[in-house]
Amino acid sequence: MKVLAISSSPRRNGNSEMLLDIALSEIKKKEVSVKKVILTDLKIAPCNSCGDCFKTGECSIKDGMQVLYKDLLACDRLLIASPMYFQGLPCQLKCAIDRCQALWAKKYVLKRDLVEKNRKTKRYGAAILVCASSGMKNTFTGAIITLKAWFSVLDIRYKKEFSTEGLEDKNAASRNEMLLKKVGEFSGAMV
Ligand SMILES: Cc1cc2nc3c(=O)[nH]c(=O)nc-3n(C[C@H](O)[C@H](O)[C@H](O)COP(=O)(O)O)c2cc1C
Repeated sequence: MKVLAISSSPRRNGNSEMLLDIALSEIKKKEVSVKKVILTDLKIAPCNSCGDCFKTGECSIKDGMQVLYKDLLACDRLLIASPMYFQGLPCQLKCAIDRCQALWAKKYVLKRDLVEKNRKTKRYGAAILVCASSGMKNTFTGAIITLKAWFSVLDIRYKKEFSTEGLEDKNAASRNEMLLKKVGEFSGAMV
């Protein structure tokens, strides 16, 4: 089983990546292969809406996304870790999601399968979402809607999220032992 873990924060070793690492240390106890991707390192350009993918099913922009396309289609489990930026996803992740318009076009315009038929119902994923504020309404709502729409295009069932508030400075998560325990339990159910 292949687990793809994507850390979307440009702040290395911050709260979302720390929680992801704890989750992965649990997941690695099982018989799985894990690939962790630091999204900011891939330097993924935004979709420019050129429309090429409607004809070819491929994206004309050649950058770090080319490897990520392969990883997204090869994985059996997808785990996203992300901070909330202005009550949404950071642009590093949104760029990668928007670039999956090429996969959308391949699937819905060109009517081609993205993954083998027998894998379609077996792939699922989850998200670890963090933010600084506490008790604000709808902080995670927009991000979850976008993640669900993205996962659906990828033929990945969105299972659940682990969302946690009140994490502002870089080391806030690492000081919260209860939180670290909870994210470990959350990820145990992933594989
Ligand atoms: C550009 C930017 C926008 C942010 N917007 C929000 C927000 O809308 N709501 C919130 O609660 N926290 C917001 N935050 C705070 C981060 O979500 C918070 O510090 C989080 O712990 C960062 O995770 P990281 O350490 O994994 O990068 C924002 C931070 C930045 C840098």
